[in-house]
Amino acid sequence: MNTALFPGSFDPVTAGHLDIVERAAAIFDRVIVCVMVNAEKHPMFSLEERLRFLRDSIAHIPNASADACGGLLVDFARQHDARTLVKGARGCADFENELQMAQINRGLWPALDTVILPAKSEHLHISSTMVREMLRYRQPLDRCVPAGGLAAIRSAAEGKV
Ligand code: PNS
Repeated sequence: MNTALFPGSFDPVTAGHLDIVERAAAIFDRVIVCVMVNAEKHPMFSLEERLRFLRDSIAHIPNASADACGGLLVDFARQHDARTLVKGARGCADFENELQMAQINRGLWPALDTVILPAKSEHLHISSTMVREMLRYRQPLDRCVPAGGLAAIRSAAEGKV
């Protein structure tokens, strides 16, 4: 079975993330979306909340699942026998960052490769940072966040803004 991992902070999941999961699920036998700890970031939502939003958002994709990991990504990949990481890139800045991460991860486990999918044009302006800002100002999020996760994200944000 050809398993791919889609790692990220997902704070929270966006419509762009969902698009990457759907496209990866059409390429690979199985996709595991992995909510990771990014030591550089202070997330708005807990690991458990981010995982729940993701599960609600990808429930319609039969070969995709979501999990959480507080450790090293390559260890998680080994445990799940996943040899491919999938990442999305909206532009040069994302691509450069992902290129660097791909080299680091391959250095840690040479069997692990990274596939970078270009974001669709309608998602180029969407980021988790922008979604958090929209939540703070209680702005409509219908096109920015997956329909399946929207209600839970909005209600969880109410206690934090
Ligand atoms: O969505 P993000 O924040 O850009 O994702 C970055 C993330 C979480 C995928 C990256 O920070 C990560 O893989 N963290 C887990 C620890 C790890 O394996 N780091 C890379 C080698 S030191």
